[in-house]
Amino acid sequence: IKRVTTHTLQWMKQNGEKISMLTAYDFSMASILDASGIDVLLVGDSASNVMAGNSTTLPITLDHMIYHAQSVMKGIQRCLVIVDLPFGSYQGNSKKALESAIRVMKETGAHAIKLEGGKDECESIARIVSAGVPVMGHLGLTPQSINKFGTYAVRAKEDEEAEALIENAHALQAAGCFSIVLEKIPANLGKRVAEELKIPIIGIGAGMHVDGQVLVMHDMLGINKNFSPKFLRRYHNLFDEISNATKAYISDVKSNSFPNESEQY
Ligand code: KIV
Ligand code: NA
Repeated sequence: IKRVTTHTLQWMKQNGEKISMLTAYDFSMASILDASGIDVLLVGDSASNVMAGNSTTLPITLDHMIYHAQSVMKGIQRCLVIVDLPFGSYQGNSKKALESAIRVMKETGAHAIKLEGGKDECESIARIVSAGVPVMGHLGLTPQSINKFGTYAVRAKEDEEAEALIENAHALQAAGCFSIVLEKIPANLGKRVAEELKIPIIGIGAGMHVDGQVLVMHDMLGINKNFSPKFLRRYHNLFDEISNATKAYISDVKSNSFPNESEQY
């Protein structure tokens, strides 16, 4: 198996092959997604929401992220694995940022880290990159800043914020990021960033013109029923599938039809 690397993603952008990315947080699901041919798995801090049940990404810790990343790494053979640095493990402190990135790389064997923010984080990014750790940026809707934004609405609809986003994207590229995620921004802005930058731009709610797409696995599989932003396409209705299987199991137990003769010793 030829492994996907950051260089593969750069090659894919140059050759017009779109990059497929999903989140993963555990061994079993990572095994399925990797065996299915996904290019990139993100151990996202969305684990705070979909695994831990928090309403924001703020509570998840670096130790939690490392636990999820260790589990994912045991399940994969081919894909590139990127791990989110969580809230509080890097912001405004390049020494701390480097230490957090090194912990992730040492303790999990993952291939890269991701962090949210623009110019303010470039000192940290340059420091992490110079230590040999590939860094993915994240602009637009950055959920670790939800208390500053106030809402999860579309970002950069106004010219001023759009221009700032473009400047930040260029700054991230100059600081050494190998790729950037753009979350929940107008499609024409996603297009402009993907055209202006040399590095691959991965969108989530950033339209069709970027170099690749990412979704949260639980959303894409329909495990969540109550999260339906416009950008989400559901490929399965796993909530109902699992619920129906569970109801059938309960019914079989209650009616003494499970286990049967051949299912006992
Ligand atoms: O944590 C996450 O799932 C993410 C993606 C939405 C890009 O950062
Ligand atoms: Na994230």
